[in-house]
Amino acid sequence: MKFYDRETEIKLLNDNELLSQENAVFTVISGRRRIGKTSLILKSLENKTIPATRLT
Ligand SMILES: Nc1ncnc2c1ncn2[C@@H]1O[C@H](COP(=O)(O)OP(=O)(O)O)[C@@H](O)[C@H]1O
Ligand SMILES: [Mg+2]
Repeated sequence: MKFYDRETEIKLLNDNELLSQENAVFTVISGRRRIGKTSLILKSLENKTIPATRLT
């Protein structure tokens, strides 16, 4: 399925990832169900190597 927009949100997550190399960063993603939280996280992790992820 095509993933639309969310460019601002993906940039914020990427920026936080960079910041987290220097300092601890805790990012909260909240919103009503089916708004696209899980999809956003999965998209932002695309092409990245991470040890383990379990998302619902
Ligand atoms: N940026 C997007 N573009 C297209 N479809 C999306 C996008 N974000 C979410 N969706 C679709 O909307 C539905 C709900 O998304 P999901 O990430 O499961 O929401 P949440 O985790 O907030 O409950 C899914 O079918 C998903 O594929
Ligand atoms: Mg979800």
